[in-house]
Amino acid sequence: MKRPSCGSLRASDAGKHAELCGWVHRRRDHGGLIFVDLRDRDGITQIVFDPARAAFREAEHLRNEDVVCVRGAVRDRPAGTGNERLATGAVELAVEELEVLNRSLVPPFQINVEERPDESLRLQYRYLDLRRARMQRNLTIRHRIVKAIRDFFDERDFIEIETPLLIKGTPEGARDYLVPSRLYPGSFYALPQSPQILKQICMIAGFGRYMQIARCLRDEDLRADRQPEFTQLDVEMSFCTQDEVLETMESSMRYVWKRVLDVDLPAFVHLTYTQSLERYGTDKPDTRFGLELAVVNEIFASTDFVVFKSAIESGGAVVALRYPGGGALSRREFDALTEEAKRAGAKGMVWIALGEDGIKSSAQKFIEERHAREIAQCIAAERGDALLLFAGERDATLSVAGKMRVEIGRRAGLRREDAYAFCWITDFPYLEIDAETGKPVPAHHPFTEPARGEWEMIERDPRAMRAQHYDMVLNGYELGSGSIRIHEAGRQRRIFEMLGMTPEQIEDQFGFFIRALEYGAPPHGGMALGIDRIAMLACGEENLHEVIAFPKTQTARDLMMDAPAPASEKQLRELRLTVTPPARG
Ligand code: AMO
Repeated sequence: MKRPSCGSLRASDAGKHAELCGWVHRRRDHGGLIFVDLRDRDGITQIVFDPARAAFREAEHLRNEDVVCVRGAVRDRPAGTGNERLATGAVELAVEELEVLNRSLVPPFQINVEERPDESLRLQYRYLDLRRARMQRNLTIRHRIVKAIRDFFDERDFIEIETPLLIKGTPEGARDYLVPSRLYPGSFYALPQSPQILKQICMIAGFGRYMQIARCLRDEDLRADRQPEFTQLDVEMSFCTQDEVLETMESSMRYVWKRVLDVDLPAFVHLTYTQSLERYGTDKPDTRFGLELAVVNEIFASTDFVVFKSAIESGGAVVALRYPGGGALSRREFDALTEEAKRAGAKGMVWIALGEDGIKSSAQKFIEERHAREIAQCIAAERGDALLLFAGERDATLSVAGKMRVEIGRRAGLRREDAYAFCWITDFPYLEIDAETGKPVPAHHPFTEPARGEWEMIERDPRAMRAQHYDMVLNGYELGSGSIRIHEAGRQRRIFEMLGMTPEQIEDQFGFFIRALEYGAPPHGGMALGIDRIAMLACGEENLHEVIAFPKTQTARDLMMDAPAPASEKQLRELRLTVTPPARG
């Protein structure tokens, strides 16, 4: 029989005897009685100590986070003292016996309050942070998400196959974490950035439908939505079209949202990469709200305003954004907004306020009333709004306007916390320019099939070639990416060549994989979604720390275990490694 938990007792249990185990959440001495809120994962129950019983004297010494087991009678709380915020709030346990199972030191932060403790203390004392109701709730939701995902894919005949952690690198654009080999000194395993090559090999091996809740490791710059270790829902299918992959992944998310959050998601919006950039200034649009951008070059075709004129003449763009209600902003507020735009990368910003008492602008001399009217029409602005204009190189200007769109959406209260706006982005370019090296690299990864009918562009104009690559985006976050894969060895080799690899490098890094493609590889495609990001958004959080039990800091440290740490002399000797001490700065 399941023992009662601290969240399970109800009015119907009054009169029964029960045993509860848990942590002292809070102790109150009141009117001669001692009240303790006893807590476990399931909830909180009020337990009461009467001075007439021996347990009372022991209860006087109880402190927060002590661990106890109590036995006694469940009874209705006296009239007017019930607590509606607690599921157990109609009853209390009158303690007859108290057993103190363990004592706690005074915790470095309070567990029984809503406020988030200091971030580094939280990570150092993670076991205490994880006791907080919010973390218990979030990790439970995460568990339910993963369970729902496994059920969904099982029902659709996918099987989960575990792939190894000690492998030869599979490239996803980050640095590999390396593990030195003791048996082969000087050689290293790479930890997987994703199971990409292995899941493709599972298709070559004839499994047809694979999924895995897979751990991935990437040594890259960290952000609120990036961890060095994270988890993917990794999926691969044989003999499929792009539409079939999209349908499968979209249905899986619809299933999860219904089962875990009881939310019916509408059909996902579809945007091409180009549409997404032009309308939202990014390939990760937050489509919870409109405020779509517009390129308004035509309106300024014959302008004398040198900023706009030079942008247009050099092939760039003038991009307009609506600020709902912004017409009432003061000059000083517009100045502050301009500074914000500059921080986002803008060279400057022109504003036009469509105030109740006429039109004002930061470029009054050059902005005629007809300009304001025409722009307002393009972006559906009304009197009382402001129009914000950005000019310069086309993609960079769209990107800045896109960042400001998100900020204006926040200010105007349009980013509703409880809305889930999923969309698909398709028709990506095959190549992008790597910010670090300035060289072309695949926008997804080198196993992606170019767009239908665009193979021959690899010889003429690879930069214009598009890919059969798709992303799933939710509320402005990239949830996942996938593609239809190259399944012919010759084509795979050709892509590596296009990326500048020599035949020796291809053989050394990917020879085994190209050989596998030569033994009857079926056409296949797939996708991976970030489980951590899914959990973060489903829990209404803004940082992965809130949904990962033991995350790393922004500088990739585990503060609880104090990792990474130096290896012992013996370990280094066995691995035949020599560590050069870092230069003193
Ligand atoms: P990609 O590299 O786009 O694709 O990763 C897929 C998804 O994984 C999540 N993700 C991360 N989450 C947290 N921290 C990180 N450092 C991190 N990096 C990625 C994101 C991302 O969208 N093999 C391909 C998929 C495929 O083609 O099937 C891949 O890994 O949510």
